[in-house]
Amino acid sequence: MGQPFEEQSGVNPLIDELIFPRTAKYDERWIRENALGENALCQAECLAHHLPFSAGMRVLELGCGKATSSIFLAREFEVQVWATDSGTSATENFHRAISLESETRVFPLRVDAHDLPFAREFFDAAVAIDSYLYFGTDERYLPYLVHFIRPGGFIGVVDIGLRREIGSIEEAPEYLRPQYEKYWSSIHTVEWWKQHWQKTGLVDVQCAQFLPEGDRLLHNYWVERPSDQNEDPIMRAMPNDDAGLIGLFCLVARKR
Ligand SMILES: C[S@@+](CC[C@H](N)C(=O)[O-])C[C@H]1O[C@@H](n2cnc3c(N)ncnc32)[C@H](O)[C@@H]1O
Repeated sequence: MGQPFEEQSGVNPLIDELIFPRTAKYDERWIRENALGENALCQAECLAHHLPFSAGMRVLELGCGKATSSIFLAREFEVQVWATDSGTSATENFHRAISLESETRVFPLRVDAHDLPFAREFFDAAVAIDSYLYFGTDERYLPYLVHFIRPGGFIGVVDIGLRREIGSIEEAPEYLRPQYEKYWSSIHTVEWWKQHWQKTGLVDVQCAQFLPEGDRLLHNYWVERPSDQNEDPIMRAMPNDDAGLIGLFCLVARKR
């Protein structure tokens, strides 16, 4: 297993240091071995351009997977992160936090995003990297989540999106059709997401955009993965997405 932090050179040569100067300090193999999707550290670094993390903030991370982005946020911005996921062992995430000396700031919990055991208005921010789609398309989810955020606090998401809405399987390009019903039918444009949140009247959306770095992260994801993972919808679609329909969006809002 790769060492979590590149101590010798201080930089990871495979990550573009100019675009991701913070991520470049971490070991590329450690990132990839613990990834459940596109590079989670790069996505967290992109999110931090739009969500002002500051020392001491209480951050809820939803669907954190192996908590690499939680560890990254805690180390890079000195925030405290409650690293939650319904499918990952809290003990394993705790050990990952210990291995990067961030166990005093990363608090792992195995918990479902629909059943959050926290006090109302406890958090300064909630974030979800490549996980919000699993629960957040439900119109009732944002009103539930904002209970746990203080007024003026932030909600930030980075996830897969489409550059145009696809209203039916007939409208979908050929390469998305095999997995349209199962996956692509619930993937949306950033404009859809903005309206999805704004219409609740509970938040003000401050950032709703496709990430310029997203195409490269998606490309790296399918290039680096073993080809036997071809049931993965991203792996199947990306090699054929010449039109650039698929990208990563960033959505950041403040609770009113
Ligand atoms: C594609 S993975 C991304 C994980 C991590 N954020 C990353 O980028 O490596 C999606 C994660 O969402 C989690 N998840 C899905 N539904 C969830 C739910 N209802 N509550 C909590 N976590 C959930 C899964 O267990 C999984 O770890």
